[in-house]
Amino acid sequence: MKIDILTIFPNMFTNIFTESIISSAQKKGIVEINIHDFRKFSNDPHHKVDFPPFGGGRGMVLTPQPIFDCVLSLKKEDSYVILLTPDGIQYKQKMAYDLSKKKHLILICGHYEGFDERIRTLADLELSIGDYVLTGGEYAAMVVADSIIRLLPGVIKEESHLNDSFNNNLLDYPEYTKPRVYNNMEVPEVLLSGDHKKIAEYRLNESIKRTKERRPDLLDR
Ligand code: ADE
Repeated sequence: MKIDILTIFPNMFTNIFTESIISSAQKKGIVEINIHDFRKFSNDPHHKVDFPPFGGGRGMVLTPQPIFDCVLSLKKEDSYVILLTPDGIQYKQKMAYDLSKKKHLILICGHYEGFDERIRTLADLELSIGDYVLTGGEYAAMVVADSIIRLLPGVIKEESHLNDSFNNNLLDYPEYTKPRVYNNMEVPEVLLSGDHKKIAEYRLNESIKRTKERRPDLLDR
């Protein structure tokens, strides 16, 4: 998979994809991530990318030309363009699975007060990562890219993400490791029993219990 990220703050991504699982996915050639400073595409003599809104109002608005030119320089037949915006549809694990099947993603990060409405026409999908407003789409692009890359074949073991929270609309079950007792808190006996059927039952029940308590909305789906 190839992921191109468009931003006017490329340095925000400097150390984000250079550690741990995402770094090794790149080294293995499973994913190629490129960060593009769309300011470089601006035709403005001062490389401006934003102007005050027509009709007046607060802040600055991203102008279409640099983003259009940057996207069109990258776009191929199999590209899928995503705009990160708080008014997009809410990102979910199911979408991460669907997007992990794409060959080429182009992620556009908005910033400042907003972007010119015509920029939306470039996007196949507009995504929000939650009902809160970030200073820019960069954080959202990091979240979306990370959640997709970990699902690509060969990045982590498939069993690991089959048990992820949100699969089957359930939260993950509780996990324990050594020591058996810590500060008087004991590991549930069943996990030490070696009885795999009982362990699977226990885990499913704990998943359901946890989901009922914390995210009953998931069980309604
Ligand atoms: N940009 C600002 N806030 C955002 C959000 N919640 N999701 C995606 N992009 C954003």
